[in-house]
Order: sequence, then C-alpha cells, then structure tokens
Amino acid sequence: MQKQTKILYADQKQDVATAASLIQQGKIVAVPTETVYGLAADARNINAVKQIFTIKNRPVYHPLIVHIASFEQLSQWAKNIPATAAVLAEHFWPGPLTMLLQKHDQVSDIITGGLTTIAVRVPANTALLDILSRLNTGVAAPSTNPHKRISPTTAAHVLSGLSGTIDAVLDGGPCSVGVESTIVDLTQETITILRPGPITQDMLQAVLKVPVQAPAGHAEHVPGNMKSHYQPYTKSSLMNAQQIKDCISLQENKALQFGIMHYSDLPTNLYAHVHTLKLSKNKAEYSARMYEALHQLDALQLDRILIETPPAEDCWHDIADRLSKACATEK
Ligand code: TXA
Ligand code: MG
Repeated sequence: MQKQTKILYADQKQDVATAASLIQQGKIVAVPTETVYGLAADARNINAVKQIFTIKNRPVYHPLIVHIASFEQLSQWAKNIPATAAVLAEHFWPGPLTMLLQKHDQVSDIITGGLTTIAVRVPANTALLDILSRLNTGVAAPSTNPHKRISPTTAAHVLSGLSGTIDAVLDGGPCSVGVESTIVDLTQETITILRPGPITQDMLQAVLKVPVQAPAGHAEHVPGNMKSHYQPYTKSSLMNAQQIKDCISLQENKALQFGIMHYSDLPTNLYAHVHTLKLSKNKAEYSARMYEALHQLDALQLDRILIETPPAEDCWHDIADRLSKACATEK
C-alpha cells in the first residue's frame, strides 16, 4: 500500500518531536545518523519491527542493530556485558561503533533474526539522540536502502529508494561520516571486527589490552553479509588509475558512456563519453561523499561506472569492503 511520506526537518524541534511520536505510534521513520540514514522502528514494538523487513524486502534472518541513547541503557538489551564494552563505550560512544553482545532474554528474536546475540550502538546524531531520549527505549534501524542497494546518506537518497513505503523521513542533511559503523564482536574471548567501519582495528587496539582481530573484509559468518551489496543499478568495476585510463581510451569503448569515481589526478575530462567525479584523497572526506557519488553517477544511467581502487592502508578497509561489494557480480 502506498503511503504519503512526510518530510520532517531535524533542525526543527517540533519536527523531531513529531518523528518521535510517529515512532511511538508504531510508524516507520527514516532518521539521520552520522553514518547513513536508518529506517527506525520502536524496538519494543514487534509489529513495527516486522514492517522494516517488509519495506526493505530484507530476509528475516538478517538481524537489525538497536540504537540506544546511552551506555546506561545497554543492560536492557544485552546480558553478560564484558568490561571491554564499558571501555569501548567511553571512547567511541556516541559514534560509529556497534557492539555485538549476548541478547537480553526479553528481546524479541525478530530483531536478532533468531540469534542469541544482539548488535547495539549509540549514534552520534543530535536529532536521533533527542528522539531516543523522548522514546526512552531503543530503535531498531537498518540502513534505509532497498535490500542490496546503495546506502543513503541524504534524505533525497532515502526518498529515491523508499518514498511511498515509509511514514516519514527526518531530513538532517548529509551524514557526516558516510559509511556504516564498525561491528565488533564482544561475545568471544577474542575480540573480532565483523564489519570494518570508521573505527579501525588500530583505534580499538589503542584502548583495549586484549588483541583485536580484523579479517580482511566483512566476516564471512555474519548474517546479512552478502558478496554483492551497496550496488548501483549501473554495472560497476574497481580499477586502478592506469586501468581506468586504458579502458576509456580504447576505441571500441568510445561508444559507451562511462562514469568515473576517482581520487588520483586523471585527465578524464578529455573525453565526451566520460563523466568524472573526483573525491578527496583524505579518507574521512572520501568516506563522507562515497555513497553520494555512487548515487549521483548511477542516476546518470550510464553504461558503466569505473571506481578507482582505494588505497591499501588499514584505515581504508571499510571503503574497500563496501566498494568491492558494490562491484561484485556474484550474488
Ligand atoms: O552505521 C550503521 O551501523 C547503520 C546505521 C543506520 O546505524 N546501520 C546499518 O544497519 O548498517 P544494517 O542493517 O544495514 O547492517 C547491520 C548489520 C547486519 O547486516 C548484520 O551483518 C549485522 O549488522 N548484525 C546485526 N545484528 C547482528 C547479530 N546479532 N549478529 C551478527 N551480525 C549482526
Ligand atoms: Mg545496510
């Protein structure tokens, strides 16, 4: 059933109150976070949480992250919380770090996809923290993209993907971080990064005494981790700067329209069949614009998007992970 999606503004106190009240009534509202827009439902209202899966066309076994107002609320959602959680919260909350812990017995299996663990974070966004305080409970919120599509970092992205299926979007402007949170597993003796994100292995290791493991990408066993994800509709490939130059200068490719997302200096504007989007070499600046750039190039309906392979340094792991999934051809 089509809905009229209400547009609310995060800098208007009254609109933030309206967003909170809609969530309280069991409605589904897209909210800004510092990472990407989240599709929020009252985490205590199971009918509302179920709607998230329907709207996103998301398999029921892909668990959701619960967003809370402060570390003090964590014990409502998780049990057997290790001391490391308090250390991490002190350093990184509010912020783009999600902790995987043992689920509190009272939390519904619908949120956790039947698992005995739960993912929780305190987001660093003033409007969302205001909503969470007004609700005095957590909100379950996945990224507000249709299943497997590019994540949204503006209200316009939310509307282009899900307008008419959600009750409201709270427009908080572009997300400042721009990439999904780091997920860290605290349920085992060894601490493992399940999804690379803005809080890197080095940052975690700097505040923890126990070793932090970081698999090369998104940990394989994480439910909801798919080879292809964050995908533009336009066929996309990762290439280094030289490969991009070679590809667009090939005579047979000049009949095609290319979009190029790069950070090195490339003389790509020499060609009429090439639409370039240059991002910063600075990781934080790149990250804040990455999904926006993918949305922009995808909207041009080109034949192919060529994305420059990100630098190999550790702090780019999350970017490399998202872009390799955006370009994957396997399901
Ligand atoms: O930055 C973020 O984390 C954003 C914003 C909105 O907070 N949220 C986000 O949610 O990225 P989503 O649903 O797109 O990705 C959450 C991922 C799931 O795909 C799954 O891999 C992992 O979190 N996850 C959640 N609960 C889990 C659990 N109990 N065990 C293992 N992985 C879990
Ligand atoms: Mg997502």
